[in-house]
Amino acid sequence: MIVKNYFGETADGRSVDCYSLKNSSETTVDILTYGATINSIYAADRNGDFADILVGFDTIEGHEKYSDYEGMTVGRYANRIAGGKFTIDGTEYQVEKNEKGITCLHGGAELSTAVWKAIIIDDSSLEMSYQSPDGAMGFPGKVDFKVTFTLFEDNSLKIDYYAVSDKKTVINMTNHAYFNLAGKGDVLGQELMINADAFTPTDENSIPTGEIRPVEGTAFDFRKMKPIGRDIGENDEQLIMCRGYDHNFCLNDGDGPAATAYDPESGRKLDVFTDLCGVQLYTGNFLDGTKPGKHGEPLIKHAGFCLETQFYPNTPNMPEFPQCTVEAGKPFESCTVFRFSVS
Ligand code: BGC
Repeated sequence: MIVKNYFGETADGRSVDCYSLKNSSETTVDILTYGATINSIYAADRNGDFADILVGFDTIEGHEKYSDYEGMTVGRYANRIAGGKFTIDGTEYQVEKNEKGITCLHGGAELSTAVWKAIIIDDSSLEMSYQSPDGAMGFPGKVDFKVTFTLFEDNSLKIDYYAVSDKKTVINMTNHAYFNLAGKGDVLGQELMINADAFTPTDENSIPTGEIRPVEGTAFDFRKMKPIGRDIGENDEQLIMCRGYDHNFCLNDGDGPAATAYDPESGRKLDVFTDLCGVQLYTGNFLDGTKPGKHGEPLIKHAGFCLETQFYPNTPNMPEFPQCTVEAGKPFESCTVFRFSVS
């Protein structure tokens, strides 16, 4: 079942709706037209009690004033592009350097602040679309974006990304949900597995150095479930620089989950599946308790973890990484599934 409700108005007067997707076990996913944002996910614990397992905001003002992309659809290029510069077929493009005037982070303020058009496809699927003009944020090509959210009876939320450009361009789309499977506190005691033998260490601007570093013997080894906080305080220059995990993991091939998270207290479990090559684990390191989140409660450090499925950061400048360039007229398609369960 999908129900549409008015959510609020942006500061510049745009009307925002919330679509609630609910299945027969009452799992509910709220999606806003603003930023094609997953605003809340109500999931049951092992006793059948529901909690909202997404960190974020309950008003449009919250999203506009305090957002660190909570729940948002992110593009055109999720994660960072060094110097906001890249070259396609000999033409250099300079895109927004919206992060400290140094890097382009999450494509600049476009997709995530746009009000997307919503179409209810059927009882379980919602399609959001947005057309980005040629040159938006400096990126080449007029691009038609579509993101389809489907909530299945097995409590899987499938996100299908589609983008087609009229010029050769780069595309990297993700969702920036901050999960907290307990629905409260910090996530350091929640467990995580990432099916990755390697990750991409970064420089001080969070741009990969090019090294593909094995996780073996490091705090970045999540191949077996471990509490997120177990090694986060290790004396590792990568962790110190980023105040925790804020890194791309190079996913192994295979049919199993790319990542699994588990909250031992509530029993809630999240499996992540994707056809993409990378996932950014971000542990909310820059949340510092100064911003009010849902119910006005402060967004504390490590209030949530993000598993942003993606191409590796700065791919447009790294020919040795799996490439994210799309030809004019050739659709980009990708799929990520978040499956909720208890154990
Ligand atoms: C980045 C973080 C950033 C966060 C919010 C993550 O994808 O890697 O460094 O703070 O997004 O913008």
